[in-house]
Amino acid sequence: MTQLTILPHPELCPQGMQIEAKPGKVLCDTLLNAGIALEHACDGVCACSTCHVIIQQGNASLAAASDEEEDQLDKAWGLTPQSRLACQVKIGSEALTIALPKYSLNHAREMD
Ligand code: FES
Repeated sequence: MTQLTILPHPELCPQGMQIEAKPGKVLCDTLLNAGIALEHACDGVCACSTCHVIIQQGNASLAAASDEEEDQLDKAWGLTPQSRLACQVKIGSEALTIALPKYSLNHAREMD
């Protein structure tokens, strides 16, 4: 099992969380199953950017993002070099530390 550390997020995960995840599982599904209500507007088909997460540690152990993922990420709020779309990330064997962005694109739109 792979250890995931989710850093605290005021709404989605106020205390932070540790998750034991199965390698090969999709990160978005794993977070949702753990009770973290990460947005996933397109249901995991790489057609939105609402499942944006920031892999603060362990990024190098993951398969590189596809061009499709990079294109969607360009639209994400608060993009960083460690940004990924959780629905496109398969968990590997190395522990990950994950930050959830303060806003998703949907939130950012609501605030316009
Ligand atoms: Fe839409 Fe991940 S849920 S890109």
